[in-house]
Amino acid sequence: MLTFSVLVLVVLGYADASPSKRHLSTSCDLSCARLQVPANQTQLIAPTYAPSFIGIGVGTQNYTCNATESTYALVGALAEIFDSSCLYGTPAFESAPTRVYDVWSATTGIKIREVITILGLTHDPAVLGQHYYVPNPVGSGLSPKWDFTSSGVTAGNPNAYVTGAKIGDLPSSNSSNIDNLMVKAVEGELASEVFRVETNGGQPPTRCVAGDSNITVKYTAQYWFF
Ligand SMILES: *[C@@H]1O[C@H](CO)[C@@H](O)[C@H](O)[C@H]1NC(C)=O
Ligand SMILES: *[C@@H]1O[C@H](CO)[C@@H](O)[C@H](O)[C@H]1NC(C)=O
Ligand SMILES: *[C@@H]1O[C@H](CO)[C@@H](O)[C@H](O)[C@H]1NC(C)=O
Ligand SMILES: *[C@@H]1O[C@H](CO)[C@@H](O)[C@H](O)[C@H]1NC(C)=O
Ligand SMILES: *[C@@H]1O[C@H](CO)[C@@H](O)[C@H](O)[C@H]1NC(C)=O
Repeated sequence: MLTFSVLVLVVLGYADASPSKRHLSTSCDLSCARLQVPANQTQLIAPTYAPSFIGIGVGTQNYTCNATESTYALVGALAEIFDSSCLYGTPAFESAPTRVYDVWSATTGIKIREVITILGLTHDPAVLGQHYYVPNPVGSGLSPKWDFTSSGVTAGNPNAYVTGAKIGDLPSSNSSNIDNLMVKAVEGELASEVFRVETNGGQPPTRCVAGDSNITVKYTAQYWFF
């Protein structure tokens, strides 16, 4: 029996070394985790199975003024994604995006990684990866990307990213907060679906005028990767 187990581990160990399959899930146990989405809406459809990562995104949404429309248009974002998987099932998990946002939004000059350290909300490795936008690989405009290729348990795996297309958009009940999103994968092996929920901040002012500077608006959110 022991010999058999060792053999299985050895075989799994070899399978595990393939770059495309290696460590595409958190080291924390998420087997009981299920995404809850609001009732009576059709935009977000929660998978019935467990996610492979749950992260807290801390960063900015970036906008430029569209002078024709006198409104801000999204031109990108930059966020660090911290692993909050180990907090799942604790009160800290629920409160983390808001607690982090309160520090992040109130403190000028603070670095993203300092926020999370102050709150002591992470385990090691704390950083899962980065979130930003890239040119749409299959069409026009911008696409969101979550890039875990250089951080955490997925570091060094060139396929540990996902570039996605939005397939569901549910505005937050608080108009200061960016929308909840359901995104399907277009490229990459990190996930087949990503959800942005529990958003705090990130919305631009409602109006702008020609000549207004580009702006960055701080936000936090929970990201679920399936
Ligand atoms: C969803 O809709 C049903 C039927 O209209 C209603 O009874 C229920 O209270 C709604 N639930 C929520 C959470 O709004
Ligand atoms: C501004 O908005 C208009 C109308 O939606 C759009 O046609 C145009 O491309 C936008 N301009 C820029 C610079 O994005
Ligand atoms: C977005 O803003 C961040 C600062 O928060 C900046 O570092 C990044 O280059 C910006 N990206 C784009 C595409 O504007
Ligand atoms: C709305 O969200 C903002 C930013 O997250 C927060 O400061 C504000 O207190 C919220 N308002 C309400 C009524 O919850
Ligand atoms: C503002 O953002 C737009 C779109 O990314 C870019 O083309 C432009 O150069 C930026 N303007 C400044 C002053 O950085």
